[in-house]
Amino acid sequence: MSAPTAYSRTQIVLHWIIAVLIIGNLIFGEEIGDAYDTLRDTGVANYDLMTLGHIGAGVLVLLFGIWRLGLRLRRGVPETTGAGSALTDRASAVVHWVFYALILAVPTTGLAAWFGGLHEAADLHELAKPVFIVLIAAHVAGALWHHFWLKDGLLDRMRMARQA
Ligand code: HEM
Ligand code: HEM
Repeated sequence: MSAPTAYSRTQIVLHWIIAVLIIGNLIFGEEIGDAYDTLRDTGVANYDLMTLGHIGAGVLVLLFGIWRLGLRLRRGVPETTGAGSALTDRASAVVHWVFYALILAVPTTGLAAWFGGLHEAADLHELAKPVFIVLIAAHVAGALWHHFWLKDGLLDRMRMARQA
């Protein structure tokens, strides 16, 4: 399979929707934590707006993530710009694949904890928070480094689609 010259419009839209949903759930995760404590202690599931929002956003991340992974495997992604070093290109590829693993695993462990009562899954789910934060920070720093230092147009590849 030869690499495409650009991300498709769908890949770009999915990238940003998933990013917003994940960052939202990272910021507003405490509320479902309290609801989960209540569920564990009393068996009563409290579906207030924050809890429903967390579950809804997480399920969308899972569904959109599967769609996006399918696109990536079938269509591929553009080659690296060539401006970075072999080491940074490799590191960014690793971060991208760990993102895909988290996009599948984090909502799944959340669902297993909430609906399946699997407390070990809840522990794993909580553990993903610092991992996500560190990787997002590295990913954004890398994108900004390419944009402002290497000036190779990498950020623009996620800004506009040249192919449908
Ligand atoms: C990518 C999607 C998701 C992200 C980024 C995410 C993130 C988070 C974060 C940051 C917390 C708080 C952890 C803490 O207090 O340290 C949390 C808690 C929780 N989330 Fe999610 N979540 C996602 C999807 C889901 C889904 C789909 C469910 C399904 C019901 C879910 C269920 C829970 C539960 C039950 C807790 C409480 C865990 C506990 O207190 O032990 N999450 N989530
Ligand atoms: C939770 C947040 C995020 C996740 C999970 C995420 C995930 C990913 C993944 C997996 C890729 C690889 C391309 C693909 O498979 O579609 C990618 C590419 C990219 N992301 Fe993000 N991203 C996030 C946030 C951001 C933010 C905030 C920026 C802005 C600085 C950004 C900028 C980019 C750029 C410029 C690319 C293209 C890199 C290239 O062409 O080599 N991402 N992102």
